Amino acid sequence: MDLTLPAKVHENKLQILGKLAASLTHEIKNPLSVIKLNLDYLKMSSEKYDEETLECIDASLEAADMIDKLIYNTLEFSRKYRDDFNHYCINEIINKSVSITKGNANKKNISVQLKLTDGIPKIKISEAKILQVLVNIISNSIEASEDNSNILINSFHNNGNVKVEIIDEGLGISEEKINEIFNDFYTSKENGTGLGLSVCKSILEEHEAKFELKNNTTKGTNFTIEFKVE
Ligand SMILES: Nc1ncnc2c1ncn2[C@@H]1O[C@H](COP(=O)(O)OP(=O)(O)OP(=O)(O)O)[C@@H](O)[C@H]1O
Ligand SMILES: [Mg+2]
Repeated sequence: MDLTLPAKVHENKLQILGKLAASLTHEIKNPLSVIKLNLDYLKMSSEKYDEETLECIDASLEAADMIDKLIYNTLEFSRKYRDDFNHYCINEIINKSVSITKGNANKKNISVQLKLTDGIPKIKISEAKILQVLVNIISNSIEASEDNSNILINSFHNNGNVKVEIIDEGLGISEEKINEIFNDFYTSKENGTGLGLSVCKSILEEHEAKFELKNNTTKGTNFTIEFKVE
């Protein structure tokens, strides 16, 4: 394959990133198990804490669990089988993603409002990967939003599909950037990697889910995901 210079640089970056991911994954395991052990220990004395502290412990345990699954998925990276796909209610995964991102939303006093349809059909997905997608999208919304604003998450059943919408009132995306944001390494943030949405894109493609990120007519963005009901 005859690659042009930018494509070679890009491929080189991806190779370095692959090695970095593998070594990071390996090294994260030990400190993560210490964090989990300590959180489990705190949870054992739950009578000592108020409700808010217990919620923080639970959210931290869920986040640690998420890292555990990410490590597993990274190690299984080369396998693209749908072996961890099962039937889940999307509302459960939305609730988990909201509890994981709650700390960051609280820091900016952002209210995350949920309008989840009860009894929505289950969809066949990888729980860990869709949790990863939702955490990435909600994190982007939080980062794009001003203090004291709102983020709305809807789930509903539409034309035989399950739809999820994440709507923020943040910065929005300029028309010339809208086609670039899903590219690897595209970021407008000082500390961003620009990998969040490209990871979301490949996970959602693997799920054969349709997705779209567009500006709202008023302010901010609307990320819509549409899953087939299998
Ligand atoms: N809800 C949003 N509102 C406005 N801009 C957004 C939103 N979501 C994504 N973007 C734009 O898309 C870019 C790419 O997002 P992506 O999640 O891939 O990377 P990032 O957020 O910059 O970095 P990282 O995910 O590593 O923190 C962002 O830098 C931002 O410019
Ligand atoms: Mg991001």
